Amino acid sequence: MSETFDLLIRGGIVATPSGIAPADVGVKGGRIAAIGALSGARAAETFEARGLHVLPGVIDTQVHFREPGNSHKEDLESGSRAAVLGGVTGVFEMPNTNPTTTTRQALEDKLARASGRMHCDYAFYVGASPGNVGALSELERLPGVSGVKAFLGSSTGMLLLDKEDAILAALKAGNRRMAVHSEDEARLNERKPLRVAGDARSHPVWRDVETARASTARVIRLARQAGRRIHVLHVTTAEELPLLAEARDVASVETTPQHLTLAAPECYERLGSYAQMNPPIREARHREALWRAVNEGLVDVIGSDHAPHTREEKAKPYPDSPSGMPGVQTLVTILLDHVSAGRLSLERFVDLTSAGAARLFSIAGKGRIALGYDADFTIVDLKAKKRIENSWIASKCGWTPFDGMETTGWALATIIRGRMVMRERALVAGGQGTPIRFGETLVPQRDAAAA
Ligand code: DOR
Repeated sequence: MSETFDLLIRGGIVATPSGIAPADVGVKGGRIAAIGALSGARAAETFEARGLHVLPGVIDTQVHFREPGNSHKEDLESGSRAAVLGGVTGVFEMPNTNPTTTTRQALEDKLARASGRMHCDYAFYVGASPGNVGALSELERLPGVSGVKAFLGSSTGMLLLDKEDAILAALKAGNRRMAVHSEDEARLNERKPLRVAGDARSHPVWRDVETARASTARVIRLARQAGRRIHVLHVTTAEELPLLAEARDVASVETTPQHLTLAAPECYERLGSYAQMNPPIREARHREALWRAVNEGLVDVIGSDHAPHTREEKAKPYPDSPSGMPGVQTLVTILLDHVSAGRLSLERFVDLTSAGAARLFSIAGKGRIALGYDADFTIVDLKAKKRIENSWIASKCGWTPFDGMETTGWALATIIRGRMVMRERALVAGGQGTPIRFGETLVPQRDAAAA
């Protein structure tokens, strides 16, 4: 008798750990139940994927969704809507909200707010602060937590962990990979006078290469001292890359689509403070070095650092304008455009946007198209050509630094645990995201003993 699936994705080119090749995929109970030639199978729902690529669901490991505290810029509903419209199936959300996610209560509040409102699956980072170091080992193990994040230099919001003894204490406090925003606070403070009023071109002058390099060198040293793995978020300089290449025992590396696509001074001349983010967009030599690091396998994941601010806030004269730009909705098409241009292989895209996250953070049951894994798919048309426009942006900020750019390669469908959530640019099933599970946060299941 032929097998019956809940969903059959038929005729696509599927990216599995064995390679990228034609196959059908059968889904049952939200999980991948079969991969191969399934022409005889029956299914409640069939997705015809001929001519399309079926990729593992894209996991964006760095987004700021602003809830609670700044819901006028974004909230968990609007941010996750932007995610699924762009082809993202899961997000790790950052702790620099108001209040900060530094206590069990704040974390539980975020999880409660997410339930029934978020469209993609999610996990939340716990922020490290001098006041909560003693609680971090317990907090990092709570279900729904992607790990601990420390701001070593100050950026948007109140979180900061800049003193060497405090950083070391936080590193010694837990076991999971700790994510760091790596800029040196003392140097940032010293160099503040270099900011030129009204001129965002001075942003990378203030937050210079050495600010990032010195901080990354120090945090690698402290990670080794503590025997703790770290994840260096949004690496932006050529000078940090050799340090990170020498630190594969302790450090993993993220970069962003904007650092791989934009370059100074052009981006500041064209976009002004809309191009302002931390750490900054730098000159083309850094962008080229980041591309080499992507293609040589030094970069482990690409996160969007989706950091929306309203136009009104961004329009303030530099440096009163806040740092950050949205990106969760454009991550897939921007990277696929690089695939189309030959700068990135599709295999590398898959590794950087799903398998890499699963490997670094030991995500349970996500990150590859393989038997028994969650049926999360980003289905893309590599040939589709469309213009990115502000009017498409679902984020509350309503703008993107890529407005007007024509890209080749777009997500046509977002499927999460077997449910079609986005199809043809429309949200078709909302509010059913659930917490992402991790090896370190698995909880005993009541019915497992009976099985
Ligand atoms: O530019 C940035 N904006 N960098 C960060 O580290 C934080 C982010 C934000 O939350 O706005």
